[in-house]
Amino acid sequence: MEVDPDERSADGTALDLRSRFVAEPDLSDADRAALRRLLVAAFPADAEAFATASYWGAKPDFRLWLETTAGEPVAHLSLVSRLISVGAATVSVAGVGAVGVRPDRQGRGLGSRLLAELPTVLPARVPAAFGFLACGDALAGFYERAGWHLVHQPMHYVDPDTGGSAVYHGPKLILPAEARLGDWPTAGAIDLRGLPW
Ligand SMILES: CC(C)(COP(=O)(O)OP(=O)(O)OC[C@H]1O[C@@H](n2cnc3c(N)ncnc32)[C@H](O)[C@@H]1OP(=O)(O)O)[C@@H](O)C(=O)NCCC(=O)NCCS
Repeated sequence: MEVDPDERSADGTALDLRSRFVAEPDLSDADRAALRRLLVAAFPADAEAFATASYWGAKPDFRLWLETTAGEPVAHLSLVSRLISVGAATVSVAGVGAVGVRPDRQGRGLGSRLLAELPTVLPARVPAAFGFLACGDALAGFYERAGWHLVHQPMHYVDPDTGGSAVYHGPKLILPAEARLGDWPTAGAIDLRGLPW
């Protein structure tokens, strides 16, 4: 992957960015507005939804983002703490969603850098056995390169648009946190027991 030299110093850290980890109730109105601006830009197909709400589906419990020294977020993800079902087992997960980088900064390593910060908060500040996310086919490799592992079970969830139950057969990935990779139950379907993130 090409990394723009302007984005990184010699030791590989981005020059002008700091990371923020904030519990949802502690977000300021200015934080929410700035995150909405980023999400509108990063997810043009969902721009209408993000124009008025800083999340889609389940309300996040935490946010992790990178911002410029002027306080403008350029890379963001949300975290939802949830007990889910996997077959007959109950598993605690930190659901990762709304992973988005401002379009003018995409492809320069910021998404990867944001994912690399996850182990600093998961599980120390967001207790969970695993990180869990679902994504489109094209992005599975991006998450695998960041240390995530594909699991091959259908995922049931409540569709935020209809309120009905739905099933996703595309890529799902886990990141061991309190648990080890081998602890993931490989038999049976995944049930988010509610809205996705
Ligand atoms: C996906 C995203 C978060 C990646 O962040 P980024 O800073 O651009 O990623 P990095 O520079 O760290 O890594 C780039 C790698 O991401 C992957 N990638 C990024 N966008 C991709 C896409 N639309 N399709 C396939 N792969 C993609 C590629 O493997 C790319 O590698 P390359 O540079 O060698 O081609 C960012 O591109 C983005 O916000 N996209 C729009 C929103 C989105 O799709 N979010 C993901 C929801 S699951």
